[in-house]
Amino acid sequence: MSTVAVILAAGLGTRMKSKLPKVLHPILGDPSLLWVLRALPEGLGGAVVVVHHGKDQVLAALESWQKAGLLPCPVSTVDQGEPLGTGHALQVCIPELDRLKATRVAILCGDVPLTSPATVRHLCDAEALVLAMDLTAPGSYGRVIQHADGRLAGIVEAKDATAEQLAVKRVNGGAYALPWPALKTALQGLTNDNAQKEYYLTDAVAAVAKQVPVPVESCDPEELAGMNSRLDQAEIQAAAQRRIQRHWMEEGVTFLHPDSTLVGPRVQLSRDVVLEPGVRLEGRVQVGEGSRIGQGTVIQDSMLGEGVEVRPYCVIEQAVVGGGSKVGPFARLREGTDLAEGVHVGNFVETKKARLHRGAKANHLAYLGDTEIGEGTNIGAGVITCNYDGVNKHRTTIGRNVFVGSDTQLVAPLVIGDGALIGAGSTITRDVPGDALALSRTPQTSKEGGASKLRLRQKQGSEVS
Ligand code: UD1
Ligand code: MG
Repeated sequence: MSTVAVILAAGLGTRMKSKLPKVLHPILGDPSLLWVLRALPEGLGGAVVVVHHGKDQVLAALESWQKAGLLPCPVSTVDQGEPLGTGHALQVCIPELDRLKATRVAILCGDVPLTSPATVRHLCDAEALVLAMDLTAPGSYGRVIQHADGRLAGIVEAKDATAEQLAVKRVNGGAYALPWPALKTALQGLTNDNAQKEYYLTDAVAAVAKQVPVPVESCDPEELAGMNSRLDQAEIQAAAQRRIQRHWMEEGVTFLHPDSTLVGPRVQLSRDVVLEPGVRLEGRVQVGEGSRIGQGTVIQDSMLGEGVEVRPYCVIEQAVVGGGSKVGPFARLREGTDLAEGVHVGNFVETKKARLHRGAKANHLAYLGDTEIGEGTNIGAGVITCNYDGVNKHRTTIGRNVFVGSDTQLVAPLVIGDGALIGAGSTITRDVPGDALALSRTPQTSKEGGASKLRLRQKQGSEVS
């Protein structure tokens, strides 16, 4: 037995009015197609994504997800060519499904992101199943026609339906599990003799239902909502947001203003985490117990330890922040930032590929790039690691308990030994040994009375001209 998932993602998505293929539009930071793939259970015989419009972008996205280890099973793609309908999408998969030795297929749509992993598992475990929704306004969905005992009798597209059929409130959710041999035979007999001149998958499903019993299950419409427009996208995102927030509230997380807070599906929070208004957490983010994330902060693909305080308006990307550290307000931690425990990175500090050891502090106005900063070291206001010479990047290595005075430029490559002290306003171009006092300043002069003399000269000069 091998169940293979087929995900339909070849459609143009005209109503999104976008250069981006519909299935790559994000919901809480993760593209719709990634939600669908990540909901698949482990142990499938594979997943086949049917692509065409925006194919190159979809393939690039799939490759990056595969590399990042985000996919639960091997994923292959089939190019549908000009899409001629959902049935045609399955027809072009016949060789691939045979190659994968599928005995059953579970069919999902790439633009239906919120079907829960539990529902998808249930679908994948079924011999045969159609997921339906009961809607008060069934609109343009296909109508589900059932036998008296509940088994599927047929699915009629709204455009082909009689008035009586249109009155049916149970609609096709577009998610199916079917035995592959029966479906394959049905696909080979499909015609496009209908209002839309499309090859309907629904006709093939009805044909299978004549061979084997196909149960119909009605599920939460939120789980089967399709994203066809920007309005759908906003509504689906709001539903996802509610679902994720409810989960984390139950786990002991405070949302000070849930409506303005966006937490993605791959975010892991902990007890007593507080998220202030306007926080956005996307990608793979972990936040340890008791941490507080300040208003307006954006965090992507980062790990924060316990008891971290991120003050308002920080941007943190691909960074690690050790327990008990304080960051911001207005700090920017870029890729490769690695803060140990108890580190302070204050306002208007930017870090990139910077490892700050325990207790190091950079409290104001600094750029720290390609650098390692030892335990207990203090970086003064306005310190810059000059890491880029216009061609290459160079490293600055600073030892423990170093004091770097304000407004110092550290021209890399550079090594500063433990316990060194660098006077404010220095431009350091050569290594500083441990415990050394390094200074590079032009000597100061103060001419007594010089200020009024200068002002007088300036005034006379302006009268002449
Ligand atoms: C389809 C169903 C309808 C159901 C609805 C649920 C058919 C004939 N009808 O409607 O009964 O209520 O889904 O949402 O199947 N796609 C392709 N190739 C194609 C056509 C579509 O890959 O040639 C993909 C689309 O990108 C989309 C999915 O299939 O992800 C569904 O297509 P869409 O046109 O949105 O569905 P409908 O035909 O409206
Ligand atoms: Mg259609």
